[in-house]
Amino acid sequence: MDKKVVLITGCSSGIGLSLAVRLASDPNREYKVYATMRNLAKKERLLECVKGLHKDTLEILQMDVTDQQSILNAKEMVVEEQVDILVCNAGVGLMGPLEVQSLDSMRQILDVNLLGTIQTIQAFLPGMKAQGQGRILVTGSTGGLHGLPFNELYCASKFAIEGACESMAVLLQHFNIHVSLIECGPVNTDFLVNLQKSELGDMSLQQADTRTLSLYEKYLQHCGFVFQNAAQDTEDIVKVFLDAIQSSNPSFRYFTCGDIPPLIKLKITEPDGSAYISAMSKIIFSDADQ
Ligand SMILES: NC(=O)c1ccc[n+]([C@@H]2O[C@H](COP(=O)([O-])OP(=O)(O)OC[C@H]3O[C@@H](n4cnc5c(N)ncnc54)[C@H](OP(=O)(O)O)[C@@H]3O)[C@@H](O)[C@H]2O)c1
Repeated sequence: MDKKVVLITGCSSGIGLSLAVRLASDPNREYKVYATMRNLAKKERLLECVKGLHKDTLEILQMDVTDQQSILNAKEMVVEEQVDILVCNAGVGLMGPLEVQSLDSMRQILDVNLLGTIQTIQAFLPGMKAQGQGRILVTGSTGGLHGLPFNELYCASKFAIEGACESMAVLLQHFNIHVSLIECGPVNTDFLVNLQKSELGDMSLQQADTRTLSLYEKYLQHCGFVFQNAAQDTEDIVKVFLDAIQSSNPSFRYFTCGDIPPLIKLKITEPDGSAYISAMSKIIFSDADQ
């Protein structure tokens, strides 16, 4: 049986790396994995995980999702000349008071998370349409389904991805191409280290007022607590990817933590938004107004 060709973005660490390792090590050798990363100097970590095995199931390619030429170069390197499963996983975060964010950092988030994902899909979509089949999986976030203070740009980028994917899914079912979002809550990866984050002592924070800074401090404590107590391991996320990949009729959304998170349910049952906003504020800033 021919192997299914999978191309994954953002494989230097975290979810992308774990998924690449799992698929390349598949006991039935069902997949040929093109693990892409923007900086090949970081490939050692992935190579260590596969320990030199999987020469016929894993290929590592350079690909920066913000650079169209690098996407096209990677596409050229796919010897099968087709991709059956495209995983758009590369992403970055930006955290801090909105008024201190530079236009450059805001652009960068949108360039990677939104336009990077879209231009990757654009590059592989014509091939999938011509093949008459394909899977597009995107690493989504609960931050794309409900807003989080101090993460305005990250949430904006992930909300936008929801809209783009939902729009594509409606059309692409007519081409036997399934689009799925794997909606993650907090995951133990390098994400928190890699994200652009305003630290409390940063000069840039002098532009923010003291009330905002004290709420930001509370938010950082909340965030630390959540990651310490509720973050999933990448293996949990990979299992959900596998469910989606192996299903003959994949869903549009998969939640990595099982049920739809209660805060998202609240948004559906109370669509005017006030219940969500006050619940989220209580959870994060609990005693701020007391
Ligand atoms: N961890 C979480 O809590 C969490 C929660 C919800 C959703 N997610 C989503 O999960 C996805 C993967 O993140 P992760 O948690 O695995 O974090 P991670 O360990 O930081 O991995 C992010 C990956 O994206 C890559 N990347 C960044 N900019 C890129 C670019 N321009 N072109 C190509 N690759 C680029 C990074 O490469 P470099 O090493 O070169 O920077 C890295 O390989 C992201 O889309 C993120 O939004 C994560």
